[in-house]
Amino acid sequence: MPMFLRKILHALYLSLMKVVVYFSPALRHTAFAGNGSSRQLCEHIIRTGAKKVLVVTDKPLRDLGVVDRAIAVLLNADVDIAYYDGVLPDPTFDQVVAGAAIAKSHGSEVVLAIGGGSSMDAAKIIAAAATSTAAPVDWVGIGKIKHAILPLFAIPTTSGTGSEATIGAVISDAVTHEKNIIMGERLLPLAVALDADLILGLPPHITAATGMDALTHGIEAYIGVWERGTRLEDARLAIRLIFDNLPRAYRDGKNLEARNGMAMAAYYAGLAINQVNVGNVHAIAHQLGAKYGIPHGLSNALVLPHILEFCHVEAQQRLAELAVLIGVGKAGDDTAGLAHKFIQAVRDLRTEVGIPNKMDVIKRADFEAISQLAIAEGALYPVPRLLDRESVMAILNNIAQ
Ligand SMILES: [Fe+2]
Repeated sequence: MPMFLRKILHALYLSLMKVVVYFSPALRHTAFAGNGSSRQLCEHIIRTGAKKVLVVTDKPLRDLGVVDRAIAVLLNADVDIAYYDGVLPDPTFDQVVAGAAIAKSHGSEVVLAIGGGSSMDAAKIIAAAATSTAAPVDWVGIGKIKHAILPLFAIPTTSGTGSEATIGAVISDAVTHEKNIIMGERLLPLAVALDADLILGLPPHITAATGMDALTHGIEAYIGVWERGTRLEDARLAIRLIFDNLPRAYRDGKNLEARNGMAMAAYYAGLAINQVNVGNVHAIAHQLGAKYGIPHGLSNALVLPHILEFCHVEAQQRLAELAVLIGVGKAGDDTAGLAHKFIQAVRDLRTEVGIPNKMDVIKRADFEAISQLAIAEGALYPVPRLLDRESVMAILNNIAQ
């Protein structure tokens, strides 16, 4: 399809999305922040009157004792706790069904997710499946969950996906590895705790990759062409916090101030994409994750500077603002120069946190297929410039070893 037609269709699609969200109800959501805030969240859950709580998590986190520390208040209260700890990276529908079966037999009244994006995404769909007889695969898409789900709470133990602040969940097909996005306002956790105490043990390479995911969220929300809500303020806060805190959290995982900064950054970046969605970086990174199993944050980090170069003309003003925000340039300097300074700062940050700029698992034989899927996905986001085959191929060529 010629580019001018694709641009018209993209503009029509964005207009339709604006109408849809205009009629969506405002969402209520509470965040407890700071060291030890998981305690406040647990007290909040007790105040709801719930007596049966399903904790959704992964086994390593439970074995490390992080889960017990997070729910210490619930363990000491008159609350019956069941666990589903079978969540694996890139959770599948099978895991969701297994978790929902536990919720049903236990009679769980609320679901508490403890973990990274995988546990939070799985918990969202488990909370929906626990009150339904439908197959969760039927909810793939936007707004398909129409029934009341179990009240949902979350304690993130990584600082990246921002799933604690979004209405989306990514669930994979166990056979094809296809990633399915399920979006619906009921999937927003009612309350979350951003508790740095629980994040101190996160290894440096995961700190780096998840932090770059949060950075990508902030930047994609900021340069997107959908003016909505507080996405600019949320994104600016997140981006500044990440440049200030990610290198410190990477070098010294026990640095509480840096961990708190990153927990807040990931949350605010999540709030930003929850309003306007992500962009072309994710459109390519999702394919790299599905095809090669490259962790999500790492895929984003590989692609991010290249997409910023790709749209540096269309997003020049916004990129220049970000350069001033993080202090690599001054207001009033040449806009194009500022934009390039920001892109260079992104590259420098990536290097500083030990992330490579190429990976040898990415194969040239797959470029054509990846490119087609990425172009189609990118057209669903409010991107400043639509992807084209030649540009995606060039980017893939740059990140393959
Ligand atoms: Fe992401």
